[in-house]
Amino acid sequence: MSSVIEDVMARKLFNSRGHETIEVDIITADGFGRAAAPAGASTGKAEVVSYPKGGVDAAIAKLEELIAPELVGMDAEEQNDIDALLHEIDETENFSNIGGNTVFAISVANAEAAATSYDLPLFQYLAGYGGNELPYPLGNVLGGGKHALGKTTDIQEYLVIPFKARCFSEAAAANILVHNKIGASLRKADPNFTGGRGDEGAWAPNIENEEALKIVAKACEDVSSEMNVECRPCLDVAASSFYDPKKGVYVYSMEGKKRDSGEQLEFMLRLIEEYNLAYVEDPFDEDDYESFAELTKKVNNCLICGDDLFVTNSQRLTKGIEMCAGNSLIVKTNQVGTLTDAWETTRLAKRAGYVPVMSHRSGETTDTHIAHLAVGFNCPVIKTGVLHGERVAKINELIRIEETLGNRAQMSRL
Ligand code: PGA
Ligand code: ZN
Repeated sequence: MSSVIEDVMARKLFNSRGHETIEVDIITADGFGRAAAPAGASTGKAEVVSYPKGGVDAAIAKLEELIAPELVGMDAEEQNDIDALLHEIDETENFSNIGGNTVFAISVANAEAAATSYDLPLFQYLAGYGGNELPYPLGNVLGGGKHALGKTTDIQEYLVIPFKARCFSEAAAANILVHNKIGASLRKADPNFTGGRGDEGAWAPNIENEEALKIVAKACEDVSSEMNVECRPCLDVAASSFYDPKKGVYVYSMEGKKRDSGEQLEFMLRLIEEYNLAYVEDPFDEDDYESFAELTKKVNNCLICGDDLFVTNSQRLTKGIEMCAGNSLIVKTNQVGTLTDAWETTRLAKRAGYVPVMSHRSGETTDTHIAHLAVGFNCPVIKTGVLHGERVAKINELIRIEETLGNRAQMSRL
């Protein structure tokens, strides 16, 4: 069996928002890997640059001229060397020369090509002999912000996590039931509700922020008793997207209210306590490490997660660890570029006791790699949507992984 790279190809196709994206194929002597890049809408400002000037076409031209000739003849198993080479070719800190999405697609396709060269599923190749724990699915069920149009909640995402589910497929079913029940409640609350959904398949109603949380919390409670699981509500506030840095306030347009940092802290604390939230992502602006630290100190039994705050970047996470800002982080490989970088940040998080959450992006493809990365990197949680084909693709792949693991499969210990 040989994982020596024989060919590298790229093409332009479309993501779930209909935007152009890059897909890369890597062919080894005995294997094949293919990966397409996802895209964010509420991106963190410290993320790598997705594409060079000229967009996907320019990225493909650079891949063909600069990168493919270097990769052919290398061994796909040498993921570190290949990812280091991508840094070297780019020569910038933020992949602005060849594009973070170009790098992402090469890096992930390469790992898959190495895995298939040895007839292994990607999760097993990444995890070695471990890799038998299934993550809890953190599913987006209601929201607005930058993921929907018109008047919707300022808080970007209301999510559910089904603790105590006995297996992954039961966990997925619980999230779907919560989503369905919320749809029914929204129709009751607003006869004019048209069933509109945002980019990730979550309901996008015209409703105030806390009203929405009440509906989500009630659906969680009902499903918990019906299915004998422990569904808990969660939030991705994506607070940077409605923070006004000049005035230092968070602008809640649905309620016509502004909150300064102190008021935002109090508001978050009250929601966590009153609704028994299990997880709150980006409750503050992406540079406000201090408020993250304050909130983390004051909560019990709740994950305070950094997405725009950390952008899967080990330097930003190191600062967070030093300040005790948060206790969890989102892992989105294309925020940082390579799989090696994403793995290093994940490892750093685990060593510091931060819970890594493998995550989709709001603009997705039907690729299923994050299902494998979640198990292969041993992330206790995967954040992906509950509905829509490109989201369900990840859920279904985890059900297949669970089947592959058979008796060895177990839900992660969180
Ligand atoms: P994205 O963010 O739109 O950048 O993918 C989704 C999220 O905030 O988690
Ligand atoms: Zn987020």
